[in-house]
Amino acid sequence: MYRKPRLYDIAFGFRDIAAECRGLLQLARRHGVPAPKSAIELACGPAHHLRELARRGMRCTGIDINAEMLAYAAALCRRNHVRVELRRGDMRTFHLTRRADLVLCLFDSFAQCATERDAIETLRASARALKRGGLLIVEFTHPADYFGRGRSRTSERWTQRDGDTSVRTRFSITRCDPVAETFIASMTIEPVGRNGKRPHRNERLEMRWLQHMWMRGGFQYVALASGAFEIVGWYGDIDPVMALTDPQAWRMIAVLRKR
Ligand SMILES: C[S@@+](CC[C@H](N)C(=O)[O-])C[C@H]1O[C@@H](n2cnc3c(N)ncnc32)[C@H](O)[C@@H]1O
Repeated sequence: MYRKPRLYDIAFGFRDIAAECRGLLQLARRHGVPAPKSAIELACGPAHHLRELARRGMRCTGIDINAEMLAYAAALCRRNHVRVELRRGDMRTFHLTRRADLVLCLFDSFAQCATERDAIETLRASARALKRGGLLIVEFTHPADYFGRGRSRTSERWTQRDGDTSVRTRFSITRCDPVAETFIASMTIEPVGRNGKRPHRNERLEMRWLQHMWMRGGFQYVALASGAFEIVGWYGDIDPVMALTDPQAWRMIAVLRKR
């Protein structure tokens, strides 16, 4: 799916990136970094947040494992005349020479750390990339979404349009392993044909990948085991006024300070 970044990007085009960046900066201020000058995003994908933060004058660096996704992010930066440094790398092992005030891991990309070891390596690599007192902000799926009963905070089917192109997306959680705390995420993204015609099969993207169900306790454990961070805040949205326990909370945000 990440090899067809344009379709992926349309499918997930529902986020209000400017509002999320305002929320990230408010969280940073609340936790002792009132005017961050630099940010790194792990698994940055199209790097929308980094472009917005770079427009506000910050020095921004994106790390992603996928070359096609990075090429897509670079094309968006050129189109918007915004400078973001983009590096191919693995969030578990990346190394940058200049340290930053903030490291971000958004949109549940941390769930691609399928094991505790992956998570601890990612946390240690993030700590090496941060200045002392710098913050790591991680966005997870809200834990309630993994417990089938009651309202799910997120949709499983939706259609999203950008200009002339509409795409239909289906997301499901399959092969849940409650012992390993993992599941297979299945996603189909297909362009909606003009005049209701079905798109050609080759245009349909289907992807399955392993994710970890990060709960608060498991993440607290890996943060402690990393020896690199203390957790200083939990929220229910990228917004310091939304408590994790609020019925309106729809994602889980952890803010960690480098020791
Ligand atoms: C769901 S996208 C998220 C993009 C971005 N965080 C956002 O908020 O739009 C996940 C991204 O993670 C990248 N990725 C997956 N495993 C990775 C790893 N181990 N290290 C770095 N990037 C990784 C994929 O290439 C993909 O671009």
